[in-house]
Amino acid sequence: MRITFFASKNYDKDSFNKIKAEYPELELEYWETELSAKTASYVTDSEAICAFVSADVSEKVLKVLSERGVKLVLMRCAGFNNVDLDAATKYGIKVMRVPGYSPEAVAELAMTLAMSVNRHIHKAYIRVRENNYSLQGLTGVDLYKKTAGIVGTGKIGAAMARICHGFGMNVIAYDMYHNPDLPLVKYVEMDGLLATSDLISLHCPLMDSTYHMINKETIEKMKDGVIFINTSRGGLVDTDDLIEGIRKHKFFGVGLDVYEEETDNVFENHEDDIMMHSTTARLLSFPNVIVTSHQGFFTAEALTAISRVTLDNAAAYLKGETAGTELN
Ligand code: NAI
Repeated sequence: MRITFFASKNYDKDSFNKIKAEYPELELEYWETELSAKTASYVTDSEAICAFVSADVSEKVLKVLSERGVKLVLMRCAGFNNVDLDAATKYGIKVMRVPGYSPEAVAELAMTLAMSVNRHIHKAYIRVRENNYSLQGLTGVDLYKKTAGIVGTGKIGAAMARICHGFGMNVIAYDMYHNPDLPLVKYVEMDGLLATSDLISLHCPLMDSTYHMINKETIEKMKDGVIFINTSRGGLVDTDDLIEGIRKHKFFGVGLDVYEEETDNVFENHEDDIMMHSTTARLLSFPNVIVTSHQGFFTAEALTAISRVTLDNAAAYLKGETAGTELN
């Protein structure tokens, strides 16, 4: 079975090629272009395609893929908010994903962002390089004995809870399902979490019910001087409301690995381009905000696990077996 990869980078090719020989039944074809209705129409002789977080896997694209003979969409990521699962089912396309490749990778980035905005590492790094050793404006806060509020205690949220606990923080969480593996976490209602947390980190999926869960109203309920981190999905946060909150000095710091307008930027080098998106430009203008480009997943261990599970998914599909990673 041939698999056409969309938006593949050298690091994707390297990690998949390392294990390809173990799957003689699979042929891998790497395309740099992103998946869209137009690029989908170029697929030839591939029963499967492989896509990533910023791919357009809408009904329109799935229809074209089905006309090109595609029967399997392999998402090489955990989140699937960009996939129209009902449409995939309608067109007879199976969708599989990589549910958890390295939850620690994402949680460790969440804490990296929290500590970076807290201790102003983004400023300190540049200052010292400029021969400026002043500490003015670099005051942080101890996280020890402060309260961490984790929203969503699945695989990544649980890893973040353990990290926060390791920092000596009091860890509270909101999730409809209480994770029995987290006895050190105290579950509270969302309003209570917003009102008492010194650090809030989002780890729930983007769905209709979680879209813009962080908005004017929920930001107002947060403690003044909170550190807010989103490594989950941009759509969880109403960016305009976040910007308004930042302008009102609500936040000590904000760390975003994901943001609503990331799709046109993510994983590409635009250094010679004029930035057209004014919301992104505004976000980047604040001294207490750090934005990274969806790199939570980006560790050697995670890349290895992503390629392994993706090819195992394809192999299971070919054998007619269930892998447990099917989404429809
Ligand atoms: P998971 O499925 O293990 O856990 C998600 C948890 O969120 C579940 O416990 C669920 O009950 C909870 N949840 C659902 N709705 C909620 C709500 N309204 N409020 C609070 N909790 C709610 O997922 P996992 O693996 O922990 O991943 C979480 C998210 O992280 C993914 O959906 C994805 O969007 C994001 N992610 C980001 C990456 C990055 O590179 N920045 C990489 C991988 C995932």
